[in-house]
Amino acid sequence: MAPTPISAPFPAARLRRTRQSEGIRGLVRENGLSAADLIWPVFVRSGTEIEEPVPSMPGVMRRSVDKIVDAAHEAEALGIGAICIFPYTGIEERTEDCTGAWDPENHTNRAIRAIKAAVPSLTVMTDVALDTYNINGHDGFVENGEIVNDRTVEALVWMALAQADAGADIIGPSDMMDGRIGAIRTGLEAKGHQNVMILSYAAKYASAFYGPFRDAVGASSALSGDKKTYQMDPANSDEALRLVARDLGEGADMVMVKPGMPYLDICRRVKDTFGAPTFAYQVSGEYSMIKAAAAQGWIDEERVMMESLMAFKRAGCDGVLTYFAPAAAKILGR
Ligand code: PBG
Repeated sequence: MAPTPISAPFPAARLRRTRQSEGIRGLVRENGLSAADLIWPVFVRSGTEIEEPVPSMPGVMRRSVDKIVDAAHEAEALGIGAICIFPYTGIEERTEDCTGAWDPENHTNRAIRAIKAAVPSLTVMTDVALDTYNINGHDGFVENGEIVNDRTVEALVWMALAQADAGADIIGPSDMMDGRIGAIRTGLEAKGHQNVMILSYAAKYASAFYGPFRDAVGASSALSGDKKTYQMDPANSDEALRLVARDLGEGADMVMVKPGMPYLDICRRVKDTFGAPTFAYQVSGEYSMIKAAAAQGWIDEERVMMESLMAFKRAGCDGVLTYFAPAAAKILGR
């Protein structure tokens, strides 16, 4: 609980006194941001020596595994908290049975092993959901037009175990199926992966802000329909608390709110209610809006980027998944 503010009447109290210089502002600053708070999402694809720009996300690349290793070295040098791997898959890599998702040799698992061999101290996070291997772009199996829950959860456990076997530190289930956290936790314990963490995408909304990401992973043209039967209604807030409570109760170590900036109220409620490690995902659409406005000369990119990241800390987040991670870390290291 925050203390009740006590204030003398003007002019005894002049709140501008503590804003008069950079030194004083630094002394009274309530929140801080450091590179260690940032998780950098990267996209891995097939091939070697490839860094292919994502058109809808200026400055973001799809990288072959060797180039992902370069990015991992960069992340470590900049003091970034973790790297989070997403696979880019072409239509020829997608099937209805999604077997690529738990293939030990898929892009994600090859990238994890390569990073762990080259930069063992860097924390590696993954994405668990079927959308990047699904012919129809959904996060779960589709049967007669329905995104089925329980059969999907079984496959998500296989996917998570393949990632843990490859050396992942943090499993990131982003699928929003019911029961997946408990099932993945049980699977990890049974296979000797008791130190592998789960950062649950607990409160993930059915958001139009994911548009550029779906281009980045190759899901845009694949996706049929929307994700509203499993991702949350943007109108809801109490439901987010129920989801977070449920996931923590099933063994999640950390929880996430997604998207980020339009949902800072949810971040604050989650942190205040549970006090658990809380993260937000500043998603692709948020990133691309800032990049686009800056490219037009309408906003100062660097200042808006840093302000947006500090907003997450102020809202109670411990850390942020952001495509700005390397750019922000460079500034924080100055
Ligand atoms: C899918 C997934 C999505 C994102 C992360 N994992 C998109 C979706 O749910 O359709 C979005 C990330 C972003 O927009 O930056 N499992």
